[in-house]
Amino acid sequence: MLIRLDNVTRIYKVGVELIHALNGVDLEIADNEYVAIMGPSGSGKSTLMNLLGCLDRATSGTYELAGKDTTRLGTAALARIRNQQIGFVFQTFELLPRQNALKNVELPLIYSNEIGFRARRGLARTALDRVGLGNRYKHRPNQLSGGEKQRVAIARALVCNPNLLLADEPTGNLDSRTGDGIMSVFDQLHKDGQTIVMVTHEEYIAQHARRVIRMSDGQIHTDERQGKGVTS
Ligand SMILES: Nc1ncnc2c1ncn2[C@@H]1O[C@H](COP(=O)(O)OP(=O)(O)OP(=O)(O)O)[C@@H](O)[C@H]1O
Ligand SMILES: [Mg+2]
Repeated sequence: MLIRLDNVTRIYKVGVELIHALNGVDLEIADNEYVAIMGPSGSGKSTLMNLLGCLDRATSGTYELAGKDTTRLGTAALARIRNQQIGFVFQTFELLPRQNALKNVELPLIYSNEIGFRARRGLARTALDRVGLGNRYKHRPNQLSGGEKQRVAIARALVCNPNLLLADEPTGNLDSRTGDGIMSVFDQLHKDGQTIVMVTHEEYIAQHARRVIRMSDGQIHTDERQGKGVTS
């Protein structure tokens, strides 16, 4: 199993108030699954994604990623897992404004510190080619459309060849046609074997996934398989 959450809670403390953002989540996701997470605003979707992405820690419960219990790991070990095993795509792209597409995509490889300049360039080009941006290497973010910016962000998420691609409302800032283009990139990545977990508010976006998890009040409310090969 790629992901195994056991009775995970995340409690935020704001002043004297305790907010139970996740309230006893059990979840297993296998390699090469394509999962959409839905649910009302405040139901805990981003909190869950941040935990899955090792950007945050559970208050209690355990999170195993690729057979390794992350709960006990220190900050440096978590950063290494993020860099080597996880790609993250955000609603707001989060690109460096002064750097061109190639440099933005190379960044995680620079952090990983194991690969020389030429190899980095090669991997960044390959990642941009994969998302259909082979003709935009030298463009900076303000010279790209919204959909192109999100493709650069996806290329950056892929460049270290992660086990897990996480996307929190990846089409949330895009019109529906541009969003469809992003979803065809995700569909192709899934076909190529990539495990994908994405959050969306849109049913037509969620329909691309093979499994839809609906959250409410920090819990998993429903968890259903859909699409090809589903019998129940
Ligand atoms: N850093 C934080 N500190 C305190 N409370 C937080 C923090 N982040 C989230 N929360 C609270 O935790 C709950 C879950 O938030 P979360 O961001 O996971 O919701 P969401 O499902 O992603 O919502 P949306 O659809 O609006 O993005 C909310 O009640 C929110 O106010
Ligand atoms: Mg959110």
